[in-house]
Amino acid sequence: MSGTAHQRNDIPGAPGAEPPTVEEPTSPREPLPPKPDQSGPATVSPTGQPTGADQADVAQRGGYLTTAQGARLYDTDHSLKAGPRGPVLLQDHHLREKITHFDHERIPERVVHARGAAAHGVFESYGTAARITRAAFLAEGARTPVFVRFSTVLGSRGSADTVRDTRGFATKFYTDEGVFDLVGNNIPVFFIQDAIKFPDVIHAGKPHPDREIPQAQSAHDTFWDFVTLHTEATFHTLWNMSDRGIPRSFRMMEGFGVHTFRLVDAEGATTLVKFHWKPRLGVHSLVWEEAQITSGVDPDFHRRDLADAIEAGAHPQWELGVQTFPDNEEQMFEGIDLLDPTKIVPEELAPVQPVGLLTLDANPSNYFAETEQVAFHVGNLVPGIDVTNDALMQGRLFSYIDTQITRLGGPNFPQLPINRTHAPVNDMLRDGMHQTAVHRGVAPYRPNSLDGGCPFLAGAGTGAYIEAPVEVPAARKVRDAAASFDDHYSQARLFWRSMSAPEREHIAAAYTFELGKCYENAIKERGLKVLANIDGELCRTVAAELGLPVPEPTVELADPDPSPALSQIGKQWPVDGRVVGIVVTDPAQDVSEARQAVLAAGMVPLVIAPTGGEGVQRTFATARSIEYDALVLAGAPQPAADGYGARDAKVSDDAEAVTDIDSRVLLLVTEAFRHGKAIAAYGGGDAVLEAVGFTSADAGVVGAAGGGDAVEQLVGLLRGHRVWDRFPPALGG
Ligand code: HEM
Repeated sequence: MSGTAHQRNDIPGAPGAEPPTVEEPTSPREPLPPKPDQSGPATVSPTGQPTGADQADVAQRGGYLTTAQGARLYDTDHSLKAGPRGPVLLQDHHLREKITHFDHERIPERVVHARGAAAHGVFESYGTAARITRAAFLAEGARTPVFVRFSTVLGSRGSADTVRDTRGFATKFYTDEGVFDLVGNNIPVFFIQDAIKFPDVIHAGKPHPDREIPQAQSAHDTFWDFVTLHTEATFHTLWNMSDRGIPRSFRMMEGFGVHTFRLVDAEGATTLVKFHWKPRLGVHSLVWEEAQITSGVDPDFHRRDLADAIEAGAHPQWELGVQTFPDNEEQMFEGIDLLDPTKIVPEELAPVQPVGLLTLDANPSNYFAETEQVAFHVGNLVPGIDVTNDALMQGRLFSYIDTQITRLGGPNFPQLPINRTHAPVNDMLRDGMHQTAVHRGVAPYRPNSLDGGCPFLAGAGTGAYIEAPVEVPAARKVRDAAASFDDHYSQARLFWRSMSAPEREHIAAAYTFELGKCYENAIKERGLKVLANIDGELCRTVAAELGLPVPEPTVELADPDPSPALSQIGKQWPVDGRVVGIVVTDPAQDVSEARQAVLAAGMVPLVIAPTGGEGVQRTFATARSIEYDALVLAGAPQPAADGYGARDAKVSDDAEAVTDIDSRVLLLVTEAFRHGKAIAAYGGGDAVLEAVGFTSADAGVVGAAGGGDAVEQLVGLLRGHRVWDRFPPALGG
């Protein structure tokens, strides 16, 4: 669907469509095609009509540099001057056009979710939802092009990927009946129950307004001040403090529509649903130290991971599923208020039923045109999908289009190529900044006779979007919420109880870190009061670390059944696109057996050598453990020529630590071990393990007979994501 034929690139990351020459090319030629892994928006007109243009042709054409008006240029390095040493002339149109355009290259970043990465793909419907919705894209066998943008919430556009935060998971379905946007997150609940609080929670989470720090994180006073006073945020905050706040990869995140939606079938019958995206690779996370190192060493970690996986042919997949609930008057299910976006319905009570498969198979060909200019909106709905009275959702229905008018410079952003619907458009919206449709006719109003009455109104039988005619109960006007919204703790306790021992450790550590970073003791104390209402052991553990007294709970602690579906640990998953580092003693060492085994398993091999060379992707200077899911030690390299502290600060000059192995390799292995990563050694690699004191008696450390055997053993370990036995339980599991 995404236009381009895809081919697998064993070592992803190639910057261009073809390898460059050392000398600057001078013979004019047409622009190179996009890279094989890349696609762009469908080439449709602003009114959804296929234009037949090749995607490559909608970018640049012709072999010569031109002005924006197409006039060929003979020089772009020198301004037009009165003599070589003279003043620059105002008449230099090329200079002024080039600089003027550059001066206006930036647009406002998103108010929230500013940092993101996206991909093209296809959604294939199983047809299983056809019994509850008339949406054409959910009919059996329907294939719909999609564009998906993942994001962090708090950070600016240039912030780091691996911060502790919620992740956005926004999907644009270009259906035959118009665009449907599922604008969700990787966390199924939200901080607030009413959109009117959104500016409050975001102002609290963003950097402090005086110093504009800290960037892209919640570990600061204003965030914790707000969420400990506004305790309906407790459950979402607990998800953030869990491993869900630091995903290993966008490819390994669940997605949630959060709100309850209303599906409508062909007869008008309605069903309430919650949408879920289930990643085929499982839900996996970083460990906190790894996330922190990565923020410095590779701030683009998630963005790169997504693009690399697609380039390498490991196309990420998610199943879309729905939990279904009867559309009754109360809009409650098993005592859970379906209009309260701070509550989940445990999957054990309402199983997630798969309705289709999403595959991301192409990278954008231009970040700005696609990932930055895409505009999602909760109100972009298609017949068969409707909203509910969730007050958070209702406010969102206003907010997105409003913000996009500023961000994208006027009301015509639906005409940007990435936002164009594939369905015919006849909207009577006219003019405005950046209008690119060339409207005909004289009567953009209804009723008219001058344009022959066109456009006409559709009805139920001709595909109109008709709001479900639900009853609005007679009621007094109030600024209030239902009494069921007052329970802020029972589901947080359910979540805590559903965690395994290592997951509980991580949660306690995250609260300790985040509250510990607050300046004000009053805020820490208030944080502990919230924890006391979730779980006594969690509260005591954090209080001890903060050196503060343990408060008593202020609510009666609920006794919910755990929901095993909430835990990330304990199953086996595919290893597609995982990265395996192979350490060699010199660039010429033959590790083809290990490399081939990694590739055969659908993973990416990166050879790490003392210096660069043919077949080497990383050197000891450029390698860091966070990049690898597992390590193969194929040798015990001696200190490389640049292996001294003045050249590379990673080198240990500590006399006692100096061995005859390059200390950066030892750092690589000890960090990987500390982060629960699988390590295999063969040949001389055993000596590295010996130098750092690991043996095959340690969990997840294996000796192998050769490269193939090493990789086979690693794959077995990688299926569980991490070597969990390296994290001995302290808190009750
Ligand atoms: C369940 C709650 C919410 C979820 C799941 C959610 C999700 C998202 C996502 C995924 C994005 C990024 C879209 C993209 O990739 O371009 C986004 C952006 C945004 N959200 Fe939300 N959001 C929620 C609540 C709210 C609320 C309550 C408001 C305001 C009342 C709001 C206002 C915005 C705004 C202004 C943007 C930036 C949009 C743009 O500039 O294009 N969100 N949200």
